Amino acid sequence: MKFLVMGSLNYDYVYELNHIVQPGETVASVRMETLCGGKGLNQSIALAKAGSNVWQGGMIGEDGELLVNTAVRYGVGVEYLKTVSGRSGHAVIQVDANGQNSIVLYGGSNRKFTEEYICETLEHFESGDYLVLQNEINRVNEVIREGYARRMKIVLNPSPYDAEILSWDLSKVSVFFLNEIEGEQMTGTGDVKKMIAILMQRYPEAEIILTLGEKGASYGKGEQIFFQPAFPVKAVDTTAAGDTFTGYFLAARSKGFSAKKCLEIAAHASAFAVGKRGAAPSIPLWKEVVMDTKLRQASLC
Ligand code: RIB
Repeated sequence: MKFLVMGSLNYDYVYELNHIVQPGETVASVRMETLCGGKGLNQSIALAKAGSNVWQGGMIGEDGELLVNTAVRYGVGVEYLKTVSGRSGHAVIQVDANGQNSIVLYGGSNRKFTEEYICETLEHFESGDYLVLQNEINRVNEVIREGYARRMKIVLNPSPYDAEILSWDLSKVSVFFLNEIEGEQMTGTGDVKKMIAILMQRYPEAEIILTLGEKGASYGKGEQIFFQPAFPVKAVDTTAAGDTFTGYFLAARSKGFSAKKCLEIAAHASAFAVGKRGAAPSIPLWKEVVMDTKLRQASLC
């Protein structure tokens, strides 16, 4: 089974500040770094680090060499990446003293997907392969349609949310990953229990996974509803914690673990990501997560 992450690759300009800038305010940053990220690339790297066979689909600009090299370094297939004219996507990320972030995106090449490119890339995948999507590229709706026509399992992380998403045929999606904000935007309620109930009723064939930051994560499908508390960690940078969660949940699922166990493994992996700086560099290896689980269990005995 293969994974195709059809998504964004970004240069992340990360500024550490005491607090996130307010309207009209000017704030000096205490540190600045340029790192590779993008929800698509982060999720690919999380899948690869967790031991999955994963390819990154996407568009890079003329400045995209480092993004490709980064994907390669972590074991992500890059044969289907395409270089287009202009700049790659980037993100301006503020990280405050508590590790919380705020992100501004510039789409760049991530917004240059064409129908031809989508069909050509999907030709290399088959029934039962996973197609993992976020909302940082254009034509996501077409990718869902074409992937579903090839009987791939569609995974959607509707981030960043925009109202147009609700006009897509989301009944084709097998797994949703949303955070609390996206859950509220999609359902109109801020109550997590109601949120998950509405999504389960609306998409009864899909697995719904709600990530709730330091509170943990919830899972729902049919009769199965679980809650997984977050693992305690000092937050250094929450960037890519959700992407790590997504990659690890899917990797664990493809290894045959139960949904409950996948939720636990994913929560554990994202705790690692929160404890380190940056997006891609903060994602742990499968063996680090597994070894740490054993240590924690041993310390409880
Ligand atoms: O989810 C984190 C990612 O969101 C960052 O790496 C940034 O590039 C944005 O896409």
